[in-house]
Amino acid sequence: MSNVLKIVIILATFILTWRFSQYSVTYKLTNVNCASHNKSWVTINECRLKAINRNRTVFNFNATFHHPTNDVVVDYRFLKRENGYKPWLYKKSVDGCRFIKKPYDMLSILIYMVFKPFSNINHTCPYYVNILIRGMYLRTEIKAMPYPSGKYMLQINWKFYQKLQFVTNISYDFIENLL
Ligand SMILES: *[C@@H]1O[C@H](CO)[C@@H](O)[C@H](O)[C@H]1NC(C)=O
Ligand SMILES: *[C@@H]1O[C@H](CO)[C@@H](O)[C@H](O)[C@H]1NC(C)=O
Ligand SMILES: *[C@@H]1O[C@H](CO)[C@@H](O)[C@H](O)[C@H]1NC(C)=O
Ligand SMILES: *[C@@H]1O[C@H](CO)[C@@H](O)[C@H](O)[C@H]1NC(C)=O
Repeated sequence: MSNVLKIVIILATFILTWRFSQYSVTYKLTNVNCASHNKSWVTINECRLKAINRNRTVFNFNATFHHPTNDVVVDYRFLKRENGYKPWLYKKSVDGCRFIKKPYDMLSILIYMVFKPFSNINHTCPYYVNILIRGMYLRTEIKAMPYPSGKYMLQINWKFYQKLQFVTNISYDFIENLL
């Protein structure tokens, strides 16, 4: 099946599920990993999960950009674990400064919706000094995209002016419960 067809099916299912809410999902953050590739520009002060209670683990991220940036490209892909992580379906490149002015691309908007309530990135470029995500968790109302239960990783490469500056890898379990 072509990727385009898969995406059409997923979006169609999304619309149906969203309208009829016939199933519930469980998400669990399982691991995070961040690294700066240019410490004179980006320092990662914090990148870790914290268990709040038995059901909820949250993500805290705190980075310092030592210089302003007006050119951010966000390259992301999903990996699925099956004997090690393998690329799974999506791989995208988003112009961050353009996106934040006027969000485009359905999947990127969904991902942004997950981060936005917990972060201070809701402003236009330039990005400078503190970049924060506090207490982020995967809300079950983001059951936007029915996909197979499993262990996934969202791997994001953050580039400024075409050069890789830092990476953030967020792993999570996804379980769909058909009602
Ligand atoms: C690393 O950051 C400095 C600014 O502190 C910048 O001038 C330089 O171009 C960056 N290097 C790369 C490879 O992006
Ligand atoms: C955790 O989830 C279980 C079952 O899903 C529920 O019974 C329990 O009340 C939840 N605990 C908290 C602290 O939310
Ligand atoms: C983020 O990290 C910086 C540098 O360590 C620190 O000064 C600041 O208080 C941190 N912010 C939050 C909200 O934790
Ligand atoms: C930031 O969020 C507010 C409220 O959600 C929204 O009205 C505004 O357009 C957002 N700004 C940007 C730059 O996305």
